[in-house]
Amino acid sequence: MKNDIAYTLVSEEEIDSTVTRIAAEIDRDYPDRSKGLLLLCILKGSVVFMGDLMKKIERPVEIDFMKVSSYGSGTSSSGKINIMLDLHRADMANLDVIVVEDIIDSGRTLSYLVDYLKLTGARSVKTCTMLDKPDRRVVNFEPDYVGKIIPDEFVVGYGLDYDEKYRTLPFIGVLKKEVYSH
Ligand code: PRP
Repeated sequence: MKNDIAYTLVSEEEIDSTVTRIAAEIDRDYPDRSKGLLLLCILKGSVVFMGDLMKKIERPVEIDFMKVSSYGSGTSSSGKINIMLDLHRADMANLDVIVVEDIIDSGRTLSYLVDYLKLTGARSVKTCTMLDKPDRRVVNFEPDYVGKIIPDEFVVGYGLDYDEKYRTLPFIGVLKKEVYSH
C-alpha cells in the first residue's frame, strides 16, 4: 500500500497533536457537563478520526453514526446526497450535536447534513473535520472545527480511501497519480 503513496501530507505525530487540539477546543466550548453532547460520526471515512477524538475529549459525550454518500465512482463529487444509514433518536432536543467528518470537499455533504439535523430539533449543530479542502468548495460552508487545511490533492489514509483501499494507513498521504488516472 505504501508504494502507492507519493508523499506523506500529515504524519502520525501531526495527526495526534491536531486531534488533541480539537478535543481541547470542544472541552472548552461545551463546559456544562450535565448537558448532552453527541459526536455524530459520518461513515465510513470518519471512523478513525472519531475513535481518536472521542478518547481525547474529557467531558462526557455520546456517540452515534450516520452514513451518507456524496461521491459517485472515482474521484469527483456527483453532487447528490443519499442517506444510507439514518439517525433514529427521540432525545435530539436534549443534545448538542457535533458532526465529525474526515474531509470537506465540495461542502455539499455537511451543508445538507446540518440543515437535516436542525430539522430533527437538536439543541445545536456544529461541524468538525480533520481535513478541509476549501479550493474545492461548491457551496458556501465553513466548519466549526478544522484539523488541517490542505491543497487539492488526492489524499488517502487515516480513514480516507480510494476505491475502498488505504483507509487503514495511520498517516495521511497523497496518492500517486498513476494509481487513479488509468
Ligand atoms: C467523503 C467524506 C465526506 C464527503 C465530503 O465521504 O467523508 O462525507 O465525502 O465531500 P463533499 O464535501 O464534496 O460533500 P465519501 O462519500 O467518500 O464516503 P466514505 O466516507 O464512506 O469514504
